[in-house]
Amino acid sequence: MAGGVAGVVAHRGASGEYPEHTMSAFEAAVAEGADAIECDVRLTKDQHLVCLHDRTVERTSDGTGAVSELDLADLKAMDFGSWKRPGHPEPVVTLDELIELARASERKLFVETKHPVRFGGMVEQKLVAALQRHGLAKPADLRDAPVTVISFSGSAVWRVRRNAPGVPAVLLGEASRLLGGGAATAVRAQGIGPSVESLRERPDTVAKARAAGRFTYCWTVDSEVDVALCNGLGVEWIATNHPARTRSWLRG
Ligand code: G3P
Ligand code: CA
Repeated sequence: MAGGVAGVVAHRGASGEYPEHTMSAFEAAVAEGADAIECDVRLTKDQHLVCLHDRTVERTSDGTGAVSELDLADLKAMDFGSWKRPGHPEPVVTLDELIELARASERKLFVETKHPVRFGGMVEQKLVAALQRHGLAKPADLRDAPVTVISFSGSAVWRVRRNAPGVPAVLLGEASRLLGGGAATAVRAQGIGPSVESLRERPDTVAKARAAGRFTYCWTVDSEVDVALCNGLGVEWIATNHPARTRSWLRG
């Protein structure tokens, strides 16, 4: 996994210009040449996984309420596009729909579980079931895996590794927490995911991870200087809100 140009991950899709987690953002990520797409997943009241970051829908839609208290049909009736692009209404995207897009466009997915503790592992259970249903939970080389699960929650990572050994997982956090390797080892994470701010403080985190056989996924890398930092360190995956710009910076 070490060496070479880093893979570009479109964070919430091409969310710098398009409304995050919408089809327009995901399709733009593909058009801009991202190697992979990052998305957050949450469970609806009727147990569907949808691509949303926040606990509630107010910031990114014209609706109100907590995702966990709304059915998929309620969310599908809301507009998740116009807050960012006035006059361009868009529905919520389900994980199944995003998987179809990733498959058709041959892009990898980095799926982040949110608030797994609250649902007692139900998010991971549903996620693993979805990956199995789509045939995406088979063992693969780490770089070739079609889906990688990422989470700030050690217990979420551990549950995914236990229930879907063929799916790689990344433990997210600050570099200072990930540096020693103990946290990742405890949950059998094959990768670590430091924020770029924390990586600036502890750039040695990447080499230490590599020495332990782990790859690094860094977020959210939106400036030229940070892209150069990550690339110079040999960070394998760079998550950015601006995939096209990042691609051209990597090309030099
Ligand atoms: O890719 C990891 C990163 O997305 C974590 O932060 O808040 O954007 O989900 P957040
Ligand atoms: Ca995320």
